[in-house]
Amino acid sequence: MDAGENIVLVGFMGAGKSSVGRLLAKRLGRCFVETDDLIVAGEGRSIPEIFQADGEPRFRQLEADMLDLLRLKRGEVIATGGGFPCPEGRMEALKAMGTVVWLAGDFETLYARALRSGSRPMLEGKPKEEVAALYRAREPYYRQAHFVVETPGLGVDQVVRRILSLLRHRARVG
Ligand code: S3P
Repeated sequence: MDAGENIVLVGFMGAGKSSVGRLLAKRLGRCFVETDDLIVAGEGRSIPEIFQADGEPRFRQLEADMLDLLRLKRGEVIATGGGFPCPEGRMEALKAMGTVVWLAGDFETLYARALRSGSRPMLEGKPKEEVAALYRAREPYYRQAHFVVETPGLGVDQVVRRILSLLRHRARVG
C-alpha cells in the first residue's frame, strides 16, 4: 500500500465510519481525521448547533469548503459525514484523493445504529420513511466507492480486517 495514499470512508449515518476509521488508522500507524470534527473545530460549535443556528445549507457549504483542506492530506484515514459524498461530482473528488471505501449495510440496521449513538440533526423529528428515502437517494453516490464492505453482523475489528485485506490484495494485484 502506498504510504502517501489516503483511505476515505464513506457511508450512511450509523455505518461505523468513526470507530472503524479510528481503529484502521491505529492498525496502519496513520493519522485519523473526520470531516465533522474539522468543521466543529473550525466553527467552534457542534454540528447540531450549526444546523440549528444556520440550517443544513450552511453545513453543506462548510463541507464543500473542506475539500481544499482534504486535498492537502497524505497517508491519512479520513472519515466523512454521511452526506459528504452526495453532491454531484463529490465522489470523483474523493476518489482523486485516495482509496474510497463504502461501509455499507441494510437501511434497517444502519437506522437502528444511528438512532442509538450521537445526536444527528438529519434524524431529528423525521419519520423513518423520510430517512429511508434519504438513504435511497444517497446510495448511488456511496456505490461509486472503490470498495464496499458490508458491515451488518460484523464488529469494528472484523470490518477493519476486511478493509486491510482488500487494500493488501489490491496492492498485490496492482
Ligand atoms: C450527516 C451525517 C453526520 C454529520 C451531519 C450530517 C448526514 O455524520 O455529518 O449530522 O447528512 O448524513 P455521520 O454520518 O458521522 O453521522
